[in-house]
Amino acid sequence: MPEPHESRVYSDFAHFYDRLWGRVFVDREHAVIESLNLRPGQTVLEVGVGTGISLDAYPPYVHVVGIDPSPEMLEHARNKIRENQLKNIEVSVGDALNLTAADNSFDVVCAFHVITVVPDPVRMMQEMYRVCKPGGRIVIINHFRSENPILGFITGIANPITKHLGWTTRLRYRDVADGVPLKVERRDKTSRYSFHTIIVLRKEA
Ligand SMILES: C[S@@+](CC[C@H](N)C(=O)[O-])C[C@H]1O[C@@H](n2cnc3c(N)ncnc32)[C@H](O)[C@@H]1O
Repeated sequence: MPEPHESRVYSDFAHFYDRLWGRVFVDREHAVIESLNLRPGQTVLEVGVGTGISLDAYPPYVHVVGIDPSPEMLEHARNKIRENQLKNIEVSVGDALNLTAADNSFDVVCAFHVITVVPDPVRMMQEMYRVCKPGGRIVIINHFRSENPILGFITGIANPITKHLGWTTRLRYRDVADGVPLKVERRDKTSRYSFHTIIVLRKEA
């Protein structure tokens, strides 16, 4: 059985992504980026940038680097950069588990709907922490397995199917949060019935 990151949604079917998941995710990502109140000259790394649905939400006065291992997804991101003349944004092939960026190099490190896709989410958090500047922020939007045992069990049953679609339903927030010393500045859901959690973490200055 393929692992989530091997899903054909991120390769052969990348051209369907925006119409399928992009529509569901885009407004939430834009609202979260707006809420960050980014300042001129700040630098942002977005890991697992995919087709770049978030990119036009970044203000033109911040420098944004997006990475993703899928050339097919990145092709769509590059089209958006070209069409919208997003001169402050660059994207390239990269792996969240082995970031090439230097330690302490970005003011903000984002991952939207990625941490349940990668094969080693703990390592991904460690890498995001490593490249984030002291005093910088790590911003995550994702669904996590419910801490309610019944709900957690029910969503866990869907895992063999969702793996094909490109994510796991079994990851709990505490599985990834415990390994990195970050201060939680925000952790909430967009609505009571939303599956997705917005998390803003601060690295100690
Ligand atoms: C659900 S999509 C999210 C894309 C984008 N962030 C969004 O919100 O639309 C998951 C993305 O994670 C990427 N991905 C898979 N493995 C990865 C890895 N090891 N490092 C970084 N990104 C990865 C996939 O190629 C895909 O583009």
